[in-house]
Amino acid sequence: MGILCRADEIGEGEARGFDYGEHSLVVVRMDGQLHVYVNWCPHLGIELNFQPDEFFDLDRRYLQCANHGALFEVDTGDCVLGPCKGDALRKVGFTVENGDIRILSVPTRTR
Ligand code: FES
Repeated sequence: MGILCRADEIGEGEARGFDYGEHSLVVVRMDGQLHVYVNWCPHLGIELNFQPDEFFDLDRRYLQCANHGALFEVDTGDCVLGPCKGDALRKVGFTVENGDIRILSVPTRTR
């Protein structure tokens, strides 16, 4: 699989959405760690955001689905509040090579 973006494009406490082939992905950096998830809420199987790169709750602590407000932990993708509590965002396998985020695997949709 290919390069998604430069790792340094994602600042601390930022989240950005990307189209990657047929996939919609979200990259987030928190506490210095990068995380990549499929931008696909497990509640209804639709994208999390209404506006580009708007993925955080008001406190910028959790990723939030704009549709019905589900909150997801940034580091695990686990839903901790909302209609899909107990479910999780799907993690995307990636590595950072020469400053680029390279996608290794994207889990397929289940819906
Ligand atoms: S679609 Fe995400 S909380 Fe309902």
